[in-house]
Amino acid sequence: MPEKVGVAVVGVGFVGGAAHVPSFKKIEGSNLIALCARTETRVKPLAEKYEVKYVLDYDKLLDDPKLDAVVLSVPTPLHFDSAMKALRKGKHVLCEMPIAPRIEQVRELQRVADKAGVILMPVLNFRFAPIYLKIKEMIKAGAIGKPIAIHFREFIPTKGLAEQWPVGSWAWDIEKSGGYPDFTLSVWSLDMFRWMFESEIRDVEWMVNYPPIAMYGGIFGYNTMGVIKFANGIVGSLHYGASATPSAAISRLEVYGDNTNVLHAINVDKILLYGDQEKPQEFTVEVKGTKVWGHRQLDEHFIDCILNKKKPQVTAEDGIKAQEIAQKIVEHIK
Ligand SMILES: NC(=O)c1ccc[n+]([C@@H]2O[C@H](COP(=O)([O-])OP(=O)(O)OC[C@H]3O[C@@H](n4cnc5c(N)ncnc54)[C@H](O)[C@@H]3O)[C@@H](O)[C@H]2O)c1
Repeated sequence: MPEKVGVAVVGVGFVGGAAHVPSFKKIEGSNLIALCARTETRVKPLAEKYEVKYVLDYDKLLDDPKLDAVVLSVPTPLHFDSAMKALRKGKHVLCEMPIAPRIEQVRELQRVADKAGVILMPVLNFRFAPIYLKIKEMIKAGAIGKPIAIHFREFIPTKGLAEQWPVGSWAWDIEKSGGYPDFTLSVWSLDMFRWMFESEIRDVEWMVNYPPIAMYGGIFGYNTMGVIKFANGIVGSLHYGASATPSAAISRLEVYGDNTNVLHAINVDKILLYGDQEKPQEFTVEVKGTKVWGHRQLDEHFIDCILNKKKPQVTAEDGIKAQEIAQKIVEHIK
C-alpha cells in the first residue's frame, strides 16, 4: 500500500458532498482521486471547487488502478450493489448507514470483505462527535457516578426533512431503504448509546405516530418514541421527531447517575453538569465544520485503519446491532 490511500466519494448529496468530500480532501493519508455521481448537476461544481476529477460511470471508476477505497454516500437502495462491486474488486468500503436495507445483505457484504481481506466500515459518526466523546469522558471520570438512566430527544425540522427526503423519495420506501426516515435516522444515536454505556440494548418498545404535515406536501412528521433497557440495567426513553418548526429543532441527551448528578448534552456544543451547586456547571465544546458530528474523525480513522492495517473501532457488526433495534420501529408502519 502506498503512503496515501486513493479514495473516491460516490454520491455527493446531503452527506457525501457536505461532509465526506471536504474531509477526504483534507485528510493527510488520503488522496481524493475522484468524485462519482449519476448526473453532472452537483458533482461538476463540487469537483471544480475541490480540484478533483469527476466520473459518471461507477464501473469505470472501479477500474481505476489508483483507487484503493470508495466512500458510498449514494441513497441506501444503491448501497448493496455498489459495495458488492467494490469489495469484489478488492477495494476498501466506507459505507453510509444503513449499510443495506436488510441485515442478511450486510452479513453477505461482510463475508465478501473478509474473503477479499479489505475493510467494510459503516459511517456511524455519532461515536466520533466531540460532544459525545466529552460526555463519555466525564462519565468515566466519575461526574455522575454510575449511569442509571438516559433520555434522548432528536427533533429535526419538517422543512429540512421535506427538502432532503420529500414524499416519494427512496427514504419513504421500506423495500428500498429498510424503513421510513425515523428508522434510518435513529441508527446513529442507537449506536452511540451502545458505545457510550458499553452495553447492548437488550429490550426496546416503540410507539409511533405518523401525522401527515399538509404544508410540506403531506410528508409524515414522525413522532417515534422508544423505551429501552440495556443489558447492564440502564433504562432510557427516546423521542425521534420531525414535526417541528426549524427553531424548535434540537438534539438533547440527558444522563442520570447514581450519585444523583445529571449530565445534559444539548445540540453539538453545550454540556450542563447538575451537581451540588445551585446552578449547573456549563461546558462548551468548540468544534467546527465536518468535525462537529464526527464525520471527519471517522473518515480519518478509516484511512488510518487502511494504512496501518488496523481493525476499525466501528464495524459492520455495530451497524447490524443498531439496525436490529431500529428495525423494530418498522414493525409499527402500516
Ligand atoms: N452519516 C450521516 O450523518 C448521514 C446523514 C444523512 C444521510 N446519511 C445516509 O447517506 C446516504 C445518502 O443520503 P443523502 O441524504 O446524502 O442522499 P442525497 O439524495 O442527498 O445524495 C445522494 C447522492 O447520490 C447520487 N446518486 C444517486 N444515484 C447514483 C448513482 N447510481 N451513482 C452515483 N451517484 C448517485 C445523487 O445524485 C446524490 O448526489 C443514505 O444512506 C443516508 O441514510 C448519512
